[in-house]
Amino acid sequence: MKKTHIAAIAAALVASTPMAFAQAKVKVGFMLPATGTFAALGTAIENGFRLYVTEQGGKLAGREVEFVRVDDESDPAKATDNVNKLVKRDNVDVLIGTVHSGVAMAMARVAKESGTILIVPNAGADAVTGPMCAVNIFRSSFSNWQPGYAMGEVVAKKGHKKVVTITWKYAAGDESVKGFKEAFEKGGGQVVKELSLPFPGVEFQALLTEIAATKPDAVYTFFAGGGAVKFVKDYAAAGLKKTIPLYGAGFLTDGTLEAQGADADGLLTTLHYADSLGSARDNAFRLAYAKSYKLQPDVYAVQGYDAAQMLSIGMNAVKGDLKKKAEFAAALQKAKIDSPRGAFSLGKNHNPVQDIYLRQVVGKENKLVSVASKSLTDPGRGCKL
Ligand code: PHB
Repeated sequence: MKKTHIAAIAAALVASTPMAFAQAKVKVGFMLPATGTFAALGTAIENGFRLYVTEQGGKLAGREVEFVRVDDESDPAKATDNVNKLVKRDNVDVLIGTVHSGVAMAMARVAKESGTILIVPNAGADAVTGPMCAVNIFRSSFSNWQPGYAMGEVVAKKGHKKVVTITWKYAAGDESVKGFKEAFEKGGGQVVKELSLPFPGVEFQALLTEIAATKPDAVYTFFAGGGAVKFVKDYAAAGLKKTIPLYGAGFLTDGTLEAQGADADGLLTTLHYADSLGSARDNAFRLAYAKSYKLQPDVYAVQGYDAAQMLSIGMNAVKGDLKKKAEFAAALQKAKIDSPRGAFSLGKNHNPVQDIYLRQVVGKENKLVSVASKSLTDPGRGCKL
């Protein structure tokens, strides 16, 4: 028989047998910002995720991975339509997203209704692992409460008594400040003024003037991405950096240092990652990331990488069958995730239980100072799982 005939018969056989489950591609839907103040954060998350998949030879639990993506523009008003594009039009098996807390809440609502597995690779919205928690919803990042709470303890221990907070008026800013305030006031301090502006605004001048007039002992802030670059530069330009110490959730200086330059030098922040952890795991990750993307990784890259690791752990446990949500969740619940940040586990509410580091900006790095809070567990208020 001629070779072409054999090939034709083989092809016909393959076409007529139902495709073995393990061979079907797994469709991963990225819903991330590709434009706006968080665009670079979305890119880092996607890069990190893809790096892990590439390291597994392009497959998870024996299934090839196919990606589809939507630019969510960090716009909560478009979020439900955007996530429905992935779930209903593209029929994704898994949702990965997003950066913005308001958009993530819409994703969680759709994930809960549709039963689609969702792994949140950044957005800290407390509600996602609080009242909205579900068997099929996981986070590879943090809750907004976590870095805020850790910094509240740090600033109280430094002996600062009166603090002004400044942030964007939306879930992430509000909750970061709330976490800070909870620990800071427990430690004997007082938040004397809570300043804010609408997301993603960067008209900081009037607010900086108000800070100068209030003369607090210190300032606590949550800003991220392009907005964080501008805030750090404006804070220094207003002459405040020399007189009123600025503390922040670590997003203030993560992935931003090239653009902030000397204006960021010396800033202290709290986060679940730092640039100089020095572990073998982190060194290998940083090297692989830099080789693949010609960029230094940041916390967002780590969170994307770990979202892929979590998907892989869950898929291996159910042999690629993503309908087995309870088994998928049970596997993740008992897993130790071998993250570049240091191994972490998930709390009952599916949020990372993790060390929060105190870091200081030295040149182009967020250098590790100490562990501010060991194995910090989000309280998961309102989560019934
Ligand atoms: C959020 O909206 O939850 C958010 C956005 C950017 C960050 C961190 C948190 O860097």
